[in-house]
Amino acid sequence: MSKSILVTGASGQLGNSVLNQLYGKYELLATDINKNKSDILNIPFSILDITNFKKIKSILTDFNPDVIINLAAFTDVDACELNPDKAYLLNTKSVEMLSNNFDGQFIQISTDYVFDGNNGPYSEDDNTNPLSIYGKTKLEAENILQESRINWCILRTNVLFDYYISTEASFIKWVVDSLKSNKLINVVDDQWNNPTWTQNLAEIIELVINKNVDGLYNYGGEDYLNRFEFAQIIADIFNLDKTLISPISTKSLNQAAPRPLKGGLKTEKIEQEFDIQCIDLKTSLGMIKSRLIE
Ligand SMILES: NC(=O)c1ccc[n+]([C@@H]2O[C@H](COP(=O)([O-])OP(=O)(O)OC[C@H]3O[C@@H](n4cnc5c(N)ncnc54)[C@H](OP(=O)(O)O)[C@@H]3O)[C@@H](O)[C@H]2O)c1
Repeated sequence: MSKSILVTGASGQLGNSVLNQLYGKYELLATDINKNKSDILNIPFSILDITNFKKIKSILTDFNPDVIINLAAFTDVDACELNPDKAYLLNTKSVEMLSNNFDGQFIQISTDYVFDGNNGPYSEDDNTNPLSIYGKTKLEAENILQESRINWCILRTNVLFDYYISTEASFIKWVVDSLKSNKLINVVDDQWNNPTWTQNLAEIIELVINKNVDGLYNYGGEDYLNRFEFAQIIADIFNLDKTLISPISTKSLNQAAPRPLKGGLKTEKIEQEFDIQCIDLKTSLGMIKSRLIE
């Protein structure tokens, strides 16, 4: 019999790819505070606010999943800084509640924001030192899982991207739409990461389920570059005018939350143990572009 899988935050960016990846192969229950915006797949859906602990218990009792993929999070890094209690409740406490009421495989998505960005990219063994409330609350969730008795797998990732016409907030969409309408844009050139296509991460999540993997793993794209360079590659792939893109510094943005500048994640461990190769940015963007044209 196929595994039963509860997906939280299923209407978000990564959720979309995860549902597409797992559709038809498992018994799925997609949950979120919002109904899946795209709603293309006929997957059973329940409203689940993961800070509603009573509802967590009743869904876990009724659905009794083999696997939880926890994608729900307070992902607006600046808003987390301004609302630390909400960030703690959603990014940390809810993970404790979910894991305390469950004894299957728990897959948690974490972030390179658990590091300070002084000397990335980082391996799984490097010392954490989050700068922001978002990073701190995500790290505390990691710690809770690592100290728990359940079968946990933490996948740290960074700068997720995808582009569907219906996507609301997407870096690619913003760059493409702005350049198509000849708008000048400013992009930071001092934040370094290895951007990750959600489709590739969704495939890794399926591997984690099938191989019943536990432990802490990094996963990210093959290319380590800054956000300005990322925008320029998007312009190249979509045949748009990259001279419209100007570099700026993170400092000039005066954001509420400090950003790790030299972030990003080393991926040797997952590549060796899963016998996979991380995908380069141009290949991923090319596939996204061809999907849009089809
Ligand atoms: N995006 C990145 O670059 C990145 C990098 C590293 C790690 N991650 C991690 O990857 C995971 C998925 O990220 P993502 O980019 O897919 O985020 P996302 O697009 O913001 O998706 C998160 C989903 O959770 C929902 N949500 C918010 N509060 C909730 C609650 N109380 N209960 C249930 N659902 C709730 C959100 O709804 P609303 O949209 O209405 O808030 C959204 O649909 C997160 O754990 C994130 O921390 C993301």
